[in-house]
This record gives sequence, structure tokens and C-alpha cells, in this order.
Amino acid sequence: MKLRSRDQRPGWVLMFHFLVLVLCEILVARALDNGLARTPTMGWLHWERFLCNLNCKEEPDSCISEQLFMQMAELMVSDGWKDVGYEYLCIDDCWMAPQRDSENRLQADPQRFPGGIRRLANYVHSKGLKLGIYADVGNKTCAGFPGSFGHYDLDAQTFADWGVDLLKFDGCYCDSINHLENGYKYMSLALNRTGRSIVYSCEWPLYLWPFHKPNYTDIRQYCNHWRNFDDVSDSWQSINDILDWTSSRQEEIVDVAGPGGWNDPDMLVIGNFGLSWDQQVTQMALWAIMAAPLLMSNDLRQISPQAKALLQNKDVIAINQDPLGKQGYCLRKEDNTEVWERPLSNLAWAVAVRNLQEIGGPRSYTITIVSLGHGVACNPGCFITQLLPVKKELGFYEWTSSLKTQINPTGTVLFRLEAATIVQKN
Ligand code: GLA
Repeated sequence: MKLRSRDQRPGWVLMFHFLVLVLCEILVARALDNGLARTPTMGWLHWERFLCNLNCKEEPDSCISEQLFMQMAELMVSDGWKDVGYEYLCIDDCWMAPQRDSENRLQADPQRFPGGIRRLANYVHSKGLKLGIYADVGNKTCAGFPGSFGHYDLDAQTFADWGVDLLKFDGCYCDSINHLENGYKYMSLALNRTGRSIVYSCEWPLYLWPFHKPNYTDIRQYCNHWRNFDDVSDSWQSINDILDWTSSRQEEIVDVAGPGGWNDPDMLVIGNFGLSWDQQVTQMALWAIMAAPLLMSNDLRQISPQAKALLQNKDVIAINQDPLGKQGYCLRKEDNTEVWERPLSNLAWAVAVRNLQEIGGPRSYTITIVSLGHGVACNPGCFITQLLPVKKELGFYEWTSSLKTQINPTGTVLFRLEAATIVQKN
């Protein structure tokens, strides 16, 4: 008896898996049919790190201006971000002038964006990147700039004319839930009518939850990703709250995600000030397990080599971007430890083990392999690689064996399990 890796599977096994995939595609809710975000969007978004800094006089390097985005675009290319998949450079709130122009079109603030958005988009495209922009379904953006209510078609066309590739559509200052829901739907159709490929990033469920449970089947038909929960901030509390919310609602949200439509737990804050190294590892590992859009909000001009290596870790990005497109979930929570798992293509699995304890030192945890992936993740055996916090080939494990690991307080250990088949000797 000999073990071999999965890519040499016999034809009938491949055919069977292909049919299972086709069946899954038919059974899951239909995604927004714009051909975009087949894997979670990757890029950079200014909000968490740069907020609504309008003071270019005193803080020229951190105010919301075309200079900031041009610098980030350059670095995304020169520092390898684009090569590993970070493609969308996204503007958040506070790019606009306080008033629409004489033809009612949104306009960029002329002092901070003297070249306008079209020129910025050309620049970003010349670097091989894509440009994202921000607007709001209601009467004003959250920071008080002009909202799109009453102007959805005009704004969609303006963004398309400028060459915008992604729209983050916020939900502040909306008069009613009806306006909110209809507005999100209308904008999706308006973007589509422009004929330009524009990723549509929504916050629709976040604004609905206080009133009623969102209809995710609907949301998935209109949006490429959608925020469910509070804004991320640069703190461990915030990351924990997002993970707690996600695991407590996983029955409702996990199965809705798939190619073309993703739950968005908000930006990666790795490389900033608030998270320890282990906490940054936790964010990266869990955002990969959750099939989350990877939108960094940090300063690429000043980022530690360690944070950069974590954000550019190809093995972890491969889990996030896995083509099967199934979101992972929390499998078990016991004794201050959480085990999360995510099915991947080619019968592989990702497994993350979190140590929730905020006291003491590294804690041991033993995973019974048979308990993973509904009992089939490693049947009859698998090759296990630890990817985070450091990469280690752990070798072959049998279905009946167990895996012992050590996890730092607030940290996470991320594994990849590759299925192995048994080859019968004649
Ligand atoms: C809301 C959104 C944030 C950000 C701000 C901008 O709070 O949830 O992600 O876009 O508005 O004002």
C-alpha cells in the first residue's frame, strides 16, 4: 500500500467531484451575475487607517487626497502587493466636494483631488491596478458628504465614466428601511446598466439587523460582498467582536457565501498599532477561513517587515482565495479554545485553532483528526502543513491519529490538510 497526493486521482474520482461541484452550484443561492469577485476581493481601503482627515495643510501625508492614493498605488506594485493579489485600491468616505456640480454630478474635492477621479483612475490603471470609490444610498454619506438618494443612475454613470472598478455603497442617512433596501437594489441594477464591470460592495445587512433579519438570498443577488457587523477598529476587542458575531450567526451567513458574493467582516488592520503579533496572525488566519475580502487599511509607506510578510503570505492567501469558494465556520468552542475549519478544493481543508485566553503562556491543544471536516477531512490519511504562525511540514497523519499543537494567548495556529489516497497494488 502506498500513499500519494491528491492531484494524481483517477479519472472517475475527478468526474465525481466535478459532478458534486456542479450540484452545489445549482443548490446554492444565485450570486450577483456580473462575473466579478469570483474569489474574495483583495486590495487596500483607506478608512480604518486614514479616516476623514481633510487637513492637507498640516498633515499632507495622511489627509484624503490624490497624493495618498498615488503613493499607495506605486507601493502596491513596487513592494509586491499586486503580485500576491492585492488589486483594488479603494477610496472610502470624504473624497467628495461638499456640493454636487452644476449638472448634479458628484465631484471630488478640488483642493485635495486637483486631477479629479478620472485622472486618478487612469493612473491606477496604468499601474495594472483597479480603483474603488465610496458613496451612500441615503441623503448623506456617514461623514456628511452628498448622498446618492435620488441620483442613483447619474452616480452609477459618473463612476463608470471615470473608470471606477468598485463601489463601496454605505447606508447612512436613509429615511426608511424601504428606501435602504430599494436603494441597494436599484444601485446594483444601475451599475449593471452602465456596462462597466464594477464590483458592488454593500453594507445593506449591517443597517438592517437592528430592524429585522436580512434576506441574504436577496442580498447575494445584488451585491458582491456585504458588511454584516460594526466597523473594525485597530483593537483586539474589535477583532474578537467580529469573530464572535460571525460564529454566533454562522447558521445564517456561511452558506450564502460563494463565488460572486461574500460576507465582509471589514478591513484587515494588520500593520497598524493596536494588535500584537499573535493577534495579527489571528486576523489573517481567520479572514482566510471566513473567505473574507482582504482589504488592508494600513500605511504601506511604513509597515514592518513582519506584518508585510504576514499579509503577503501566499499559502494563507491561497486559502482565502480557494476556488471552491466555501466559507469556513467555527466547529467547536471549549475551554477557551476555538477550532475553525474550511473546506477547500481538491478535498483539502484549512483548520485554525485559536487560544482565546488572555493570560498565561502558550497552551497545548490536541485535535482528534477524525473530528475534522465531518469525519472526512483526513480519511484515510492526510498531509498536514502548519502555515501560521510559522510554516512547518508536519507530515502524514492517519484518520485515527491526533495532532497536538501549542497556541499563544490570543493567537492562532493555521493548518492545511491535503488529502491522500490509497493506491492498491495489483
Ligand atoms: C461607515 C462604514 C465605514 C466607513 C465610514 C465612512 O461607518 O461602515 O466602513 O465607510 O462609514 O464614513
